[in-house]
Amino acid sequence: MAKKILVITGTVSPAEKSFSLALTNRFVKEYQSLNPNDEIIHLDLNNEQMAHKTLSRENFGTYFNEQDALKYINQLKEVDKVIISSPMNNFNVSGLIKNYLDHVLLADQTFSYKYVKQGDAKGLLEHLTVQILTTQGAPFGWYPWGNHTEFLKGTWEFVGAKVNTPILFAGTKIAPVSTTNPDEAMNSIADKIIEAAKKF
Ligand SMILES: Cc1cc2nc3c(=O)[nH]c(=O)nc-3n(C[C@H](O)[C@H](O)[C@H](O)COP(=O)(O)O)c2cc1C
Repeated sequence: MAKKILVITGTVSPAEKSFSLALTNRFVKEYQSLNPNDEIIHLDLNNEQMAHKTLSRENFGTYFNEQDALKYINQLKEVDKVIISSPMNNFNVSGLIKNYLDHVLLADQTFSYKYVKQGDAKGLLEHLTVQILTTQGAPFGWYPWGNHTEFLKGTWEFVGAKVNTPILFAGTKIAPVSTTNPDEAMNSIADKIIEAAKKF
């Protein structure tokens, strides 16, 4: 049976200069060659109003509305797999990705109430398999307090998803990678991408 794959991207880099988009496109290409009948649905958060809305005291009462939250939660319930890609922005995921997560991490929709005994909250998206694809300017480990890859892994596991081994492409701001075309740069991790696509 053909599966539905939701591809969520949240970089603010120009598309042709983006390492996270190059990584995502390469992963999707490898996945599609293995699963030609699956349907790919692209969700670039730059184009979604909800991803531009930050939760505040003022909008708290209307934030989780049909258009901005429930529509996207339903989308997660209707697909089989999610590919989510994010660069590191100030030691975390991009603001677009954070705003997306703030909308879809909703009690009784994507997880059972979380302030029960530790470990007792139950994820409600157990049907999902997730592939995390991340980039960061610095090599891995330079900023031990910032790990957007682990943040995403833990968050998707919290909602019950099975998370494939994430791929982090680190050091995009360091030469020679910084002066390499992003598509070409992916050749250095081609094996890793193919390996992950096979397991996804
Ligand atoms: C606003 C902003 C904040 C960033 N913060 C960090 C950071 O905290 N740590 C880091 O290693 N790289 C940081 N970077 C570099 C990006 O993670 C890196 O250039 C990434 O490859 C950009 O996204 P892309 O993969 O779509 O090209 C930052 C970039 C921007 C634009």
